[in-house]
Amino acid sequence: MTRLPATSSPRSTSPPPSFGLIDDTPYYWDIYWDLHLGVKGEAIPPQVRTIGESFNTVLAFRDPMQPVVYDNYMTVRALLDFLKNWIDERLDDITSGRLANPEKTIAWYWLRNAGDGAHFSKKDVVFECFHNFVAFSQWGNTIFGIMSRLSQDGGNAEIRAAFEQTMSGDPDTASGAPFTPLEMFVMELFRTISPNGGSISSMSDVRGTGSSDNYGDSVSPFLRFGLPYGRSGYIISPHTATSFDPRHWRNPQQFDPSRYRDVPTSAQVDEARSKQIGFARCPFELTAMKVSDGRNAAMANSAFGTVFGVVDGKPLPVCDYAGFAPFGFGYRRCPGEQLTIQVFEDFLRKVWRDKITFHSLNLPNPRQVPIGPNAVIDDNITFGRQT
Ligand code: HEM
Repeated sequence: MTRLPATSSPRSTSPPPSFGLIDDTPYYWDIYWDLHLGVKGEAIPPQVRTIGESFNTVLAFRDPMQPVVYDNYMTVRALLDFLKNWIDERLDDITSGRLANPEKTIAWYWLRNAGDGAHFSKKDVVFECFHNFVAFSQWGNTIFGIMSRLSQDGGNAEIRAAFEQTMSGDPDTASGAPFTPLEMFVMELFRTISPNGGSISSMSDVRGTGSSDNYGDSVSPFLRFGLPYGRSGYIISPHTATSFDPRHWRNPQQFDPSRYRDVPTSAQVDEARSKQIGFARCPFELTAMKVSDGRNAAMANSAFGTVFGVVDGKPLPVCDYAGFAPFGFGYRRCPGEQLTIQVFEDFLRKVWRDKITFHSLNLPNPRQVPIGPNAVIDDNITFGRQT
């Protein structure tokens, strides 16, 4: 993340970059691996940093005809086995007690809640540890979107005014609303920045015996139930378009954090709400899974399939309204949404407390930096501190 604010150092004006430099994003990978496996600094092997950079670079540029995509793709392939073995060993450090404070890692919660591993095996945990390359890189995309909007020159005056108003009031007090003012401000940033423009899901299991991922075995629903392989059996969820649709909001184009004051939250979208909408029955069975990691918490779901936390018997609010779709909508909705919203609340508290301001550098040839899926940014913004 440290690479996002460009500096006026020669680096910013140097010739076109070579991507995948391992010292390019040291702090980002420290945060990433510390959060997942409790490892940071020199304990992260260079190969692990390199594969992360290369993975992001492929996702950002995407076009396989570009040499930068091909080169980084080949790097990912060459280092994948190393990465998987390294993660596997670090998971053993967590389960064996070799890692201090393992409960500070995400993997610890995955392992503790995996039960006998029938539905979430160690192999799945290994995969999730690097699947999150795709998920977390969207934080970079979002930070860039926020910096651009809050920028003193060329930013968005309406959003800067809303930030000022939110922070100089009582940002962390909900006053009876489902969300606090700061939470609503962050949600509105996500709705309008919409780092993830859309998703595609298949309607039936399209994996067959020939697939190399071993999923086409006898437990595949496709084979067990002889489900048809629908050639057009895909659902596209256009997140950005949904969030801006005038069928959902009277003022979709306006930056208006107060729109979330009256939205339904997941715990309210129940059997009765299903009937009210016109469903014959609740499309998703309402259920709850208690966690087995020592917390008094469960994961429940709404009639749309949205998963939400229930802690000490109290449901945590998730905006379950189709007009708010930056994290998807329904049963495939992002499970990292609340964590992400809280991270950005913290980021904005820091910006406010330390009087951090953002400025455009107006560089003639800013460096092109790959930061996340489909996102290559001009490294053209810096920040300062007002005294
Ligand atoms: C700016 C940050 C993020 C954005 C904008 C974002 C957005 C999304 C979107 C749009 C989806 C797809 C929903 C759909 O298919 O309808 C998704 C899925 C997912 N996200 Fe995120 N996400 C973010 C961060 C995270 C983080 C930090 C994590 C993990 C801690 C995470 C974990 C996942 C997972 C596991 C899925 C797949 C869910 C499933 O298919 O059942 N995401 N995310």
